[in-house]
Amino acid sequence: MADEKQQRVQTAANPGVDRREFFLRLGLGSMGIAAAGTAVFAYQFLSPNVLYEPSPVVNMGKPESYQLDSVTLDVDARIFVVHNNEGFFALSAVCTHLGCLTAWKPDLGIIACPCHGSKFAMFQPPGKKPGEKFDGPAPKPLPWLKMWLSDEGELIVDRSEEIRPEQFVRV
Ligand code: FES
Repeated sequence: MADEKQQRVQTAANPGVDRREFFLRLGLGSMGIAAAGTAVFAYQFLSPNVLYEPSPVVNMGKPESYQLDSVTLDVDARIFVVHNNEGFFALSAVCTHLGCLTAWKPDLGIIACPCHGSKFAMFQPPGKKPGEKFDGPAPKPLPWLKMWLSDEGELIVDRSEEIRPEQFVRV
């Protein structure tokens, strides 16, 4: 009876954790947090430091979606898809001066840059190849980009590959 009473008194004064065990748990907890932090930093350090850029190859869809004698600007891809009597071709829409996005001017039959006024041929002026610069500070023509027809019959453009002008995709 006296033992039982003494045990109850001990339990009330010492509710489960003594001083030594408390510091042991505190130490283990601190080491766990430090290990987790180290693991996070090690993972970040060992992960490849890579920028994931969009693919230069873009699918421009079915040829039937481009009318004859049309110039279609794809703002996201930053290219013009042109359909004329000779076939299809893709032209970069990025101005060769300082990289502004150029615009198709259907009333004039040319491509113009809104930033500093460079002008590039399309259907006008006569005698100029599409993409050729004829006015303004741009140092080079708008490049023709590699285009082909996929097995599924869609127009594919590789924006990283320039080609000689006047290579048309015939469908
Ligand atoms: S960026 Fe086009 S003319 Fe300057």
